[in-house]
Amino acid sequence: MNPALTELFEAARAAQARAYAPYSRFPVGAALRDAAGVVHAGCNVENAAYPVGTCAEAGAIAAMVVGGGRVIAELLVLGPGPALVTPCGACRQRIREFAGPEVLVHVADGTGVRAAFTLGALLPESFGPDNLGSRDPDPHA
Ligand code: THU
Repeated sequence: MNPALTELFEAARAAQARAYAPYSRFPVGAALRDAAGVVHAGCNVENAAYPVGTCAEAGAIAAMVVGGGRVIAELLVLGPGPALVTPCGACRQRIREFAGPEVLVHVADGTGVRAAFTLGALLPESFGPDNLGSRDPDPHA
């Protein structure tokens, strides 16, 4: 694993250890690197009212935004095996807000990185900020 990916892996694993997942017992961590090279992490935070729970990716994105970041350069999600913990549909769209189709989404478990997909492969023909055309100012400015 290259050092940059190792940094994301370790950040996601540390975040996973903080996950609040008493209902699913499926702790997830996510880490992303923003355009400035800063790493932001998040974990899933479940709720007794089940649909109110949030995914790890949502937490990492919120951390990026509050830290001043606006562009995802690379992202890693880490969860328990044996199946790959690929981002849910809603999180693919959340990532799309701050990432183009070429951005890599790595999928890991506690033992290491198991797969990588481009966001374009996970969410083809997506609707993103550009699709709003001239009606909105640049959301990443
Ligand atoms: N989960 C994530 O946090 N990220 C994913 O990519 C997949 C699923 C969480 C949501 C819920 O708390 C638990 O994993 C089981 O679905």
